[in-house]
Amino acid sequence: SSNKMWGGRFAEGPDAIMEAINASIGYDRRMAPQDIEGSRAHAAMLAAQGIITDTDAKAIREGLLTVLSEIEGGTFNFSTALEDIHMNVEARLTEIVGPAAGRLHTARSRNDQVALDFRMWVRDQCDAAIDALPRLMRALVAQAESGADWVMPGFTHLQTAQPVTWGHHMLAYVEMFGRDLSRFEDARKRMNECPLGTAALAGTSFPIDRDMTAAALRFDRPAANSLDAVADRDFALEFLSASSICAMHLSRLAEELVIWSSAQFRFVRLSDRWSTGSSIMPQKRNPDAAELLRAKIGRIFGAQTALLMVMKGLPLTYSKDMQEDKEQVFDAADSLMLALAAMTGMVGDMMGQKDNLEAAASSGFSTATDLADWLVREAGLPFRDAHHATGALVKMAEDAGIDLPDLTLDQMQSVNDKITAGVFDVLGVHNSVASRTSYGGTAPENVRAQVARWKESLA
Ligand code: ARG
Repeated sequence: SSNKMWGGRFAEGPDAIMEAINASIGYDRRMAPQDIEGSRAHAAMLAAQGIITDTDAKAIREGLLTVLSEIEGGTFNFSTALEDIHMNVEARLTEIVGPAAGRLHTARSRNDQVALDFRMWVRDQCDAAIDALPRLMRALVAQAESGADWVMPGFTHLQTAQPVTWGHHMLAYVEMFGRDLSRFEDARKRMNECPLGTAALAGTSFPIDRDMTAAALRFDRPAANSLDAVADRDFALEFLSASSICAMHLSRLAEELVIWSSAQFRFVRLSDRWSTGSSIMPQKRNPDAAELLRAKIGRIFGAQTALLMVMKGLPLTYSKDMQEDKEQVFDAADSLMLALAAMTGMVGDMMGQKDNLEAAASSGFSTATDLADWLVREAGLPFRDAHHATGALVKMAEDAGIDLPDLTLDQMQSVNDKITAGVFDVLGVHNSVASRTSYGGTAPENVRAQVARWKESLA
């Protein structure tokens, strides 16, 4: 038999495969709460404008709450023949309240309906990210506070570069996640225009009040162009873009945790709660959560690319291609929220290994730049000459199998006779980081000031 929602002109029902390719109910049922909230606001507006009676609106609005409780209670019978969440809800509403249900779709189309539901769903996910990111940032700030003056190697090319503080390294991620937070806030602001009432694509001849529904559904204003409102999926793409950049940051941190927790580095110890063992090798403590997080991030990048591909060739306005928007975004949002929660747990529990960090910072000639700077400051050498002299001293130490502070003053003076015993003060890693007081530099006093600033803004 033909579809009861749109089958008026059809003699035959769809082929089974047609039904399979057409249906979205398998995943868009996740938007049931948004669908029902949107329909209830629409019915209230239709009654307020005298388009339907108060009696019908009341029956519709109450019936929709019954449908919602059936869905939430797990007793709702979803039908693939009814394609999507919108028609499943309306069909059940018809069973519950009778013919009045048929008036709900006045001055509305599934095109503005799905644009509304999906926008509200994505808006909720922005809120979830806006809620989750400060938790992670607070965990990182706590790490920064307890290790404000712990010294560790700073890397470029994953080669020891200069000593930095643990606190400074933690706060680098706080800056990144702070920008991610503002990207979600920004995207949320831009997406907060209500498409409901733009109908199929051209608007409607019914005297609807779009400001009323926009306000009831917590939007800043109704969308200004009906064609754009049903065709636009920028809001989902912006969410995926913000998610992708945030995910990239999470993945870099996850990678550091994998490296740092290895037996070769031993910079951090992940707690038992965030480690797994091996079924054969008893010594293992594997950082599985960090690895999975690093891998799951790929799904988010994939979703962004997939939705861009879906949208890029579509003429205005709605095309059924756009039904392929939701699964990608659902999966990306699930992956992001899980990754944020896992990272927050790992960071909160992890134990920086102060002594190992300091030992690593002290090897690899990490204070060579401090030595060159000393030659500029105290011996008046041009920086290029100081760089060259320091390079010779590094080679001397390397050949002898020792570190820079282990060279004797005689050995130093054989390279440059202006070097005095005072040079040894700058060769220690603690002095090195303490001297980096330029704004944004790694000195513990800077870290403490930034920790105070973040604690205030995250309070
Ligand atoms: N299930 C559809 C979707 O997700 C709803 C909109 C259907 N609109 C239409 N003109 N067929 O996009």
